[in-house]
Amino acid sequence: MSKLQIAVIVGSLRQESIARKIALQLVEMNRDDADFDVLNIGDLPLYNEDLETTKTEPESWIEFRRRLKAADGVLFVTPEYNRGLPGALKNALDVGSRPKGDNAWSGLPVATISHSQGALGGLASHMQLKAMLPTLNTYLMPHPEMYLSNSGQLFNGKGDFADPKTTELMRKFSDSMLKWFARFRK
Ligand code: FNR
Repeated sequence: MSKLQIAVIVGSLRQESIARKIALQLVEMNRDDADFDVLNIGDLPLYNEDLETTKTEPESWIEFRRRLKAADGVLFVTPEYNRGLPGALKNALDVGSRPKGDNAWSGLPVATISHSQGALGGLASHMQLKAMLPTLNTYLMPHPEMYLSNSGQLFNGKGDFADPKTTELMRKFSDSMLKWFARFRK
């Protein structure tokens, strides 16, 4: 059987994003078992239903929806902004859900990770994301949950996880994610 195709969505747009580093580390760990497509949500214009016509629909919306539909599953890695989801990520959820009747998320299994440089691991942001995903008709991996706290110390100077326990946790998470996504394969 061919490899799983996994779309990866990072909730932060900044160059040195810890969420991006976590996502890319997970990609590296699973290269043999899956192909990954890291989607860029930073170039998606803010969702506006008025633009849903063949003449005005942004090219980046069309491409984003196409790549979601091509995936066997989606991995989200996000930080928390003001006890909630970063706006860019909420926008990506909205863009993927339309036009009406053609929800690109529908039927996709999804897995979620949050992080915070503080003690709470992005819990509030993560809970918002988890609350929205069933509405998009996705299948949310229930377990293991992954809230990474003190994420400023996650990586060593070489860009690897500093603590072998984090690598172990990520391995367990990845194995569960690959199994979960395979269950829903079209
Ligand atoms: C933050 N940050 C933050 N952290 C947190 O744990 N809870 C929060 O509510 C917030 N709120 C918040 C708002 C805004 C506008 C910014 C820019 C930042 C801190 C933030 O999570 C931290 O900088 C992360 O490192 C950002 O994620 P990336 O870009 O490193 O992935």
